[in-house]
Formats: sequence, structure tokens, C-alpha cells
Amino acid sequence: MCTGQDQRQLRPVRSFVRREGRMTDGQKRALENLMARYGLAGEGPALDFQAVFGRQAPVTLEIGFGNGESLLEMARQSPDQDFLGIEVHRPGVGHLLARVEELGLENLRVICHDGVEVLRHRIASQSLDGLQLFFPDPWHKKRHHKRRIVQAAWLALVADRLQPGGRLHMATDWQDYAEHMLTLADAEPALENLAGVGRFAPDRGGRPETKFERRGLQRGHGVWDLIYRKR
Ligand SMILES: C[S@@+](CC[C@H](N)C(=O)[O-])C[C@H]1O[C@@H](n2cnc3c(N)ncnc32)[C@H](O)[C@@H]1O
Repeated sequence: MCTGQDQRQLRPVRSFVRREGRMTDGQKRALENLMARYGLAGEGPALDFQAVFGRQAPVTLEIGFGNGESLLEMARQSPDQDFLGIEVHRPGVGHLLARVEELGLENLRVICHDGVEVLRHRIASQSLDGLQLFFPDPWHKKRHHKRRIVQAAWLALVADRLQPGGRLHMATDWQDYAEHMLTLADAEPALENLAGVGRFAPDRGGRPETKFERRGLQRGHGVWDLIYRKR
């Protein structure tokens, strides 16, 4: 994993530090029993979404879904669309798997792996209707900025994986990261800022509030959304 010239150029360092955290018995059970039904492997050839979901429908990918409640809500609200969530934090994956089973959702699948690698290796060019990245780890310190998932090479990769007309939706509660996202995404020629160059989206663009966002709002943080369309 992560060898070879291309991979090093794309992303020399990871955007996360694996911290296992405590897992509830329910999360453990879900990981053991439900991955076979709702989970997909992080490594392997490009996914055939028609085979995965058993139908042809628009697919939205979310990287870093946390506990997955906002992704679950989107899947529940849009039964005619399919959703693929990627998260490295196993308790969050266990939580989402249990909730998918509880609600009997057939339009959501889960991968427990590095979302950048999955995007690079398992997602075909022009196969996504949407990609969402909500409240990625901000990596506040300047010397850690290289760990931020949003980089010029990542945005070019996202643009390649989106179908023409597909949407990239990002949100953060950290102003410095919001400006970083705006500068880089505005500079990606295959993406069009729906709010106009240099502007943030006027609202959440219909997405549900996330757990991380709620915590930030309670502490008085601002929220910046950015929505782009693949040209
Ligand atoms: C600050 S949390 C936000 C979680 C959620 N989106 C929310 O708003 O509640 C960022 C999440 O991204 C995950 N993450 C970071 N880098 C990732 C990567 N390369 N692939 C998959 N998940 C990643 C972390 O494990 C963490 O759960």
C-alpha cells in the first residue's frame, strides 16, 4: 500500500491518525456480523456500482463520515440514489453498520479504509454523481497542513472521478481550512464554484447537520460550505 512514484506524488502523508477508541458491544457485533452484508473491501479493482447495488442509480461517496448519522439521513431521504461511505475509525463504521441494518437500508454501503486510496484505486473515472467531505480533520498547525486531505492533487482526482455535472460538497468549521479549500478548488479547471469564484456557498446546500458540526456550533464555531460542479 502507498508505494510507487505516483502514490507518493499524490499524497505523501495520510490525513488521519488511526486511534481505535472504545467500541461498544453493539459496534463490535455490527463489525463482525454486518460487514459481509453492507461492507466492501478497501482494496481491489474498481467497483462496479451496478453489481454492488443491484441497480443503476446515481452514486454519492462520502469520505470520513464519522458516526455516519448524516450520511444515513441522506440515504433515508433519497431511496432512489445510492451512497458509499468511507471511514477509518472502526467504532464509527460499527455504528453506521448497525443503523443501516436497523433501518433496513439497501442503498448504503460502507468501506473501512483510507478514503484517498479507495478513491484512487476502487472508484472508476467519471463514475460518481457526488462526493462529500464534511468537517475533515483540520490539522491546525502549519507544519501539519500537508496532512490535510484537500490538496490540489486530491481535487484533480475528485474531478476525474465525478461525472460531468456531478457535485463536490465540502464543509468545515475552521476558517483557515475553508480558505485553503476555496483557493485550491477554485483553481481546479474541471470544477465550477456554484456560488461564484472566491465565494462560499450561501447555506448547507440541503445536507443534514453532522455530529462534529453540532459540537462546533455549540462552541461558537462558524461553518463554511463549498459546492462545486464538475464541468
Ligand atoms: C473531524 S471528523 C468529522 C466526522 C463527520 N464527517 C462529522 O462531520 O461528524 C473527520 C473524520 O474523517 C476521518 N478520516 C480522516 N481521513 C480519512 C481518510 N483518508 N479516509 C477515511 N476517513 C478519514 C476521521 O477518522 C474522522 O472520523
